[in-house]
Amino acid sequence: MSNVQYGDYQFEIYFDGLEGRVPKYPVDYPSLERAAAEVLPSFVYSYVAGGCGDERTQRANVDAFSRFAIVPRMLVGATERDLSVSLFDMKLPTPLFMCPIGVIGLCAQDFHGDIQVAKASAQTGVPMVASTLTQDRMEDVVPHAEGTPGIFQLYTPNDKDLAASFLARAERAGYRAVVVALDTWTTGWRPRDLNTGNFPQLRGYVLENYFTDDVFLKRLAKSPKEDLKTAALEWIKMWGNSLRWDDLRWLRSLTKLPILLKGIQHPDDVRRARDYGVDGIYCSNHGGRQADGGLPALDALPAVVEAAEGMPVLFDSGVRSGSDVAKALALGATAVGLGRPYAYALAVGGTEGLVSQLRAILAELDLLMAIDGFRTIADLRAAGAKRI
Ligand code: FNR
Repeated sequence: MSNVQYGDYQFEIYFDGLEGRVPKYPVDYPSLERAAAEVLPSFVYSYVAGGCGDERTQRANVDAFSRFAIVPRMLVGATERDLSVSLFDMKLPTPLFMCPIGVIGLCAQDFHGDIQVAKASAQTGVPMVASTLTQDRMEDVVPHAEGTPGIFQLYTPNDKDLAASFLARAERAGYRAVVVALDTWTTGWRPRDLNTGNFPQLRGYVLENYFTDDVFLKRLAKSPKEDLKTAALEWIKMWGNSLRWDDLRWLRSLTKLPILLKGIQHPDDVRRARDYGVDGIYCSNHGGRQADGGLPALDALPAVVEAAEGMPVLFDSGVRSGSDVAKALALGATAVGLGRPYAYALAVGGTEGLVSQLRAILAELDLLMAIDGFRTIADLRAAGAKRI
């Protein structure tokens, strides 16, 4: 059993309270979002908070958690909990990870959010999945995670040499797995951003991985520093590769790292991915940012897990608390991704604010396991969640 008891964080807070100190950063999601809205530049806040269409899928993702319940077991004596999980060759202290968020770089006050996230990852052991869209190039981000493994998320460009270069760079830089996002080869219809003509990438933000890649730079007559507008327009030309199943063979040939497919929700797609030799599934609907009118990702999870037949299944979309993490685990997820909440935590308090948010989520998960009688994540998964 691990001797780190994440739930003890609450005593730190209560003891500080005895000295008249309240937490610097909110521990709950609604307060965090309100605080972030006050400090983020409005174009960043709108980009993070917004979703596709009337944002029904985004809300449904969150609401879905209230339709599942965990049934407690008593007299178990779960005085010590072990939250660790294994993912490929990675032994992780907890089942939590940080989702890839393309504008996370802009969420920090200094616009170096990718590096601040990596530092929080080092301090907590919670891995980051670094997006292709970053303010700092991937090689400069992952060393800050120190001993905590990092995962690279590929947006596959339609320039095949550039895709190969990104994967080679990720492997050389020390990322331990690759998430290929399938649902974003074009951008979904996002009214909040459309009404303000707001698309940060076209203004040259978060394109550092492209602007430091020889394959991309060869396409330009002038460097991005000399002519940012043309560089951003060149970027949009090769942004999205609408992959087909057979392209998985090509992707597989480019890297030795384990490959996970992000955006999968249908069990037939899981089975097909297995047939193509994919290593893991990432069940997600991109937090309702890509297609409106979809199934809450949590509702898709049980069938995805069943079809995965033991292959690792990562999950995100709508996770707002430690009890949400517990429910996704109980429904079979191997590891659970935090999305918007960590962007807001970073906005409010940089690395320090993010560390405190990750500790809050883990404390709630740990205390739920203590009270409900689960010593390990495997116990929680075996118990399952009841649909209500
Ligand atoms: C994202 N997401 C995302 N996914 C991805 O694979 N690559 C990316 O670059 C991004 N960028 C991104 C930006 C912003 C602002 C958000 C909010 C999300 C999707 C992300 O990984 C995850 O699927 C969702 O955030 C999950 O939904 P919730 O829980 O945040 O609502």
